Amino acid sequence: MGDDRFVGVFDSGVGGISILKSLVAELPNETFRFFGDSAHAPYGDKPPEEVLRLSQSIVDTMVNDGAKAIVIACNTATSAAARSLRTTYSDIPIVGVEPALKPATLAFPQGRILVMATAVTLALEKFQRLAAQWGSGSQVIPVACVGLADRIEQGNLEADDMHELLLSLVGAYRGKVDAVVLGCTHYAFVKQQIRDILGHVTFFDSGAGTARQLRRVLTERGTLANADSQGSVSFASSKDTEEELTLYRWFYRQEL
Ligand code: DGL
Repeated sequence: MGDDRFVGVFDSGVGGISILKSLVAELPNETFRFFGDSAHAPYGDKPPEEVLRLSQSIVDTMVNDGAKAIVIACNTATSAAARSLRTTYSDIPIVGVEPALKPATLAFPQGRILVMATAVTLALEKFQRLAAQWGSGSQVIPVACVGLADRIEQGNLEADDMHELLLSLVGAYRGKVDAVVLGCTHYAFVKQQIRDILGHVTFFDSGAGTARQLRRVLTERGTLANADSQGSVSFASSKDTEEELTLYRWFYRQEL
């Protein structure tokens, strides 16, 4: 018997939709409910205690609504809240995301690797530990992309001001890096714009790894949906307007 309860997926806003796309590709029979906290985005320049409080309230609602698993589709919230959430909700598997530094350093052992993430993600222990573990051979260059997730929330990704912002954040590395780790789930939506600035680089994001991890935990617990279930995706946002949900669906349709 399959388990037809839903998987709750959340982010500070639209960024987690990039992870959601990988989850659906890996687990097409599952029911996914996505929540974006766009009314409180960005998380990346808030104190970690506030990110924890906001994440707790979202997970609380999802668990009360009957989620069988939670995916924190946000590096910032994973860094600030995953440990505490796993203690509070010990019966429910909680899958987080992390910057894909391990695969990037394995692919480019002597390479120069730019890690784009929020200031909170780069400052907290999770990234520091990853960098210590995987960053010894390669040159790891962390860049706190202040303002970028907030700008991506607004859509209109091809606009000139997006190009200018990216230029100010990473323009200095043009032609100087081999790989880019997208350490914030929002940034997957501006890969092409980043490539326009940096030239040829290889991207590493967290989507496929997170999706495989979700498959593992659902399999271990025997809570996968039936192989003949019709999977589905629904969207909700703390910025609860039709316009915002239309924007979410637009992001979901983007090719990554
Ligand atoms: N998408 C988020 C992340 O992966 C957070 C962006 C933000 O709200 O600052 O870190």
